[in-house]
This record gives sequence, structure tokens and C-alpha cells, in this order.
Amino acid sequence: MLLTVHQKPPEDATEAVSGLAREEREGEVSVTIILSGQALIESLEIDDDALAEISLILEMQRNFNLSIYKDKCMKRRVAIRMRSCRCLDAAAYCDLLRQSEQELDLLKKTLTIHVSQFFRNPSMFEKLQTVVLPHLFQKAATAGERLRFYSLGCAGGEEAYTLGIIVRAFFVQELLRTPVDIYASDIDADILQAAVRAEYNEERLKDLPDSIRERYFAANGPHLQLSPQIQKMVTFQLQNIMDVGLSEPCQLALCRNTLIYFNRPDQEKILHGIAHVLPSGGVLVLGKSETLVGDARGLFTTLCPVERIYRRI
Ligand SMILES: C[S@@+](CC[C@H](N)C(=O)[O-])C[C@H]1O[C@@H](n2cnc3c(N)ncnc32)[C@H](O)[C@@H]1O
Repeated sequence: MLLTVHQKPPEDATEAVSGLAREEREGEVSVTIILSGQALIESLEIDDDALAEISLILEMQRNFNLSIYKDKCMKRRVAIRMRSCRCLDAAAYCDLLRQSEQELDLLKKTLTIHVSQFFRNPSMFEKLQTVVLPHLFQKAATAGERLRFYSLGCAGGEEAYTLGIIVRAFFVQELLRTPVDIYASDIDADILQAAVRAEYNEERLKDLPDSIRERYFAANGPHLQLSPQIQKMVTFQLQNIMDVGLSEPCQLALCRNTLIYFNRPDQEKILHGIAHVLPSGGVLVLGKSETLVGDARGLFTTLCPVERIYRRI
């Protein structure tokens, strides 16, 4: 399969929302990344000198050695933090690092960020399959509505595709009445391109039940290629999670292992944004080491404390 990627700025106000449009022709996938005002900051360059300065600050303040990692990868990770803090250039970001202990910790965490996995925390997905999704399908069928699910901070798409697999494998009858749209977003355009390709190594599939693996993956050289049937269920978008409140309403939002990279006030803002797009009864799932903070606690009830599943009041 051929993957072509084009980047373009928004042509008019209607494209102000950044996105990733996928066009499929026979054997060819064409991806256009539409850059919003926020994503245009993508063009911010972190040159070698800036990286050296950031590296020095991290080494002196946190005894953290950047030089063992690939520069290109580190520059991409630094850019993610800069965009999250809305810093327009490396000098401003270095100033912030010198002033903020918290930002130093957040940068360090972001640089050592871990990738995702299919069926990560299998017991959570089991709870979704047996308790949450049956209820959401029933409610949507009664109201005659479609269902919309979000995977926020989706990395290589593993979480969103896991949702797709569960829906396709276990809710065949329900799908006939209630179509499901899955949207997955991340701030990292490179990761989104990998997500669109949907080729994975063994490591990403280690929690996958054998039956699912045989049904939805095919060997492709050293990789495993996800079936197009599941790929088609997910739309990827370039989006800063800080802007989640501007999205369309959804009934289920997975925001796992991403909140931890943000300071507390920003965690609260993100949770308020998610609460804004979830109607009453909508469901939020956080990562195992994450929890509701501040005022956002008053916006949800806890459905399952162990799996960090919450229901919008
Ligand atoms: C550890 S991964 C989590 C992947 C998946 N949610 C999971 O739990 O397996 C964190 C992801 O958050 C993304 N991220 C970091 N800052 C972000 C931001 N401001 N907006 C959107 N995504 C962000 C990173 O690019 C990374 O892909």
C-alpha cells in the first residue's frame, strides 16, 4: 500500500479546525494534514543549539542525559511540550524551563514517553465491553442516534483501533441499528501518520487475544498489518488536547496516560474540555495512574474506580 502525505495550511475559515483527511484509492492512501493556527506552530524549529541548551538545563537541573537519544526524536518531543505551553520559540521555552521546576519534570516525562499497545489494561476494555458499551448502544438505539467515541492522545492508534475491534467483533447486531464513529487525536503529526499506516510490531500486540489477532491482523514482512475493515472505522485528527472542548459532542472519551504529562491547572482545563463535549451519561476513561482533579471532580460520578471509568453528571 502506498502512503502519500501532504501538509497544507487552512484555505479558509471553514478549515480552521486542524485535521487529517484520508483519501483511499486502490492500493493507495493519501493523507492531507490540514494545519490550523495552532498546528502551524509546528513549523517552529528547534535547531541544534537550542537542543544543546535544553539538554544542558536538563542535565544541570535533573541530571538527565539527552545525548543517549536520537536528536530528531528529542526535537519532536521538545516541540510537543512547547506547543502544549504555547511557546512560540526555543528561547521562550528555555526561559520557562529556567523558571519552572514543574515544566522541567513534565519535559523529562515527555522525553521518556512510552508508546501504546492494543488492549492496554485488558481489564478496562473488558469492563467497556461488558458494562459500558451495551448501555451506550441501548441508549443510542432508543434515541435513534449515532455513537461517537474519542481516543485523546492516541499515539499510534492502538487504543482507538482496539475500540474498533471490540465494536466490530462483539456488537454486530447493535452496529446494524447504531453506527459508530471513532475519532482519535494527538499533537504529534508523525505518530498520526504511523497510526494511519496501522502496521505494528509484536510488542504492540502482546496483550491481544489469539482469536482477535488471527481475525484482524495479517503478516506484512516484519510487521503485522491491521485489517482495512477496522482501519476504516477510525478518523485521525491533529489536535492539541487543550482544545478538546471545541470538538463535537461524544458519548465515550478515552484519555489515558496523557493527562500525566500536564501540570494540574492544565489537567483541570482538559477535564473541563472533556466534560464540555460529553453529554449527561457520557463516559470518560482515564489511565491507571490518573484521576479527576479540582473542580472537574464535581462534573463526574465514578462508575469503576479500579479502571478509572467515570460518568458525566
Ligand atoms: C503515552 S501516550 C498514550 C497513548 C494511549 N492513550 C494509551 O494510553 O496507550 C501519550 C500521547 O499523548 C500525546 N500528547 C502529548 N501532549 C499532547 C497534547 N498537548 N495534545 C494531544 N496529545 C498529546 C503524545 O504525543 C502521545 O502520543
